[in-house]
Amino acid sequence: MTVWKTVSTSVEMTEKLGEAIGKVAAPFDVITLDGDLGAGKTAFTRGLARGMGLSSRVTSPTFTIVNEYNDQQGVPRLFHFDTYRLSCVDDFYDAGLDEYFDREGVCAIEWSSVIEEALPEDRIALSISGNDNTREISISFPDRFYEAFLKVKETMEKEGMRFEDPGM
Ligand SMILES: Nc1ncnc2c1ncn2[C@@H]1O[C@H](COP(=O)(O)OP(=O)(O)OP(=O)(O)O)[C@@H](O)[C@H]1O
Ligand SMILES: [Mg+2]
Repeated sequence: MTVWKTVSTSVEMTEKLGEAIGKVAAPFDVITLDGDLGAGKTAFTRGLARGMGLSSRVTSPTFTIVNEYNDQQGVPRLFHFDTYRLSCVDDFYDAGLDEYFDREGVCAIEWSSVIEEALPEDRIALSISGNDNTREISISFPDRFYEAFLKVKETMEKEGMRFEDPGM
């Protein structure tokens, strides 16, 4: 597991980080997004969808828990969850939402800490904090994603983003 820390200075930069990760994301990847209201979890997911080549505009799934986004062939590619309204992990299981992890798509999950115990250990985890236009973003990912994240880093460094790896 690697943890990188970075800073986004605008909503566009957070979207671009999502886009860069969307370009390297593969089916069955799970990306968790934690951070307060307005942290930028949905903004990140909007970029993620764009990076995956999906043209629909991502909106917050707060009232529906999960929104599905299809590619142009109608194949579901991205499952965007917002578990804010679930009171506990049993709500998640009772609604059968854990079955999404077996579907061939990318899962992006806002407020994932509510369903912590249902989450696969093998996942990319972002936590976002900050205020005004600045967001400190911590990204942790299993070793198998290392090559992919070097690409993300390279892309984002061109956008002026700096990464700090406490392990380096
Ligand atoms: N660096 C930044 N990154 C992301 N968003 C930013 C940044 N700076 C300012 N913002 C603003 O913060 C807000 C982020 O909203 P967003 O809906 O993405 O948050 P969220 O984490 O999904 O919130 P919620 O918990 O309500 O779902 C937007 O209004 C955006 O313009
Ligand atoms: Mg949101």
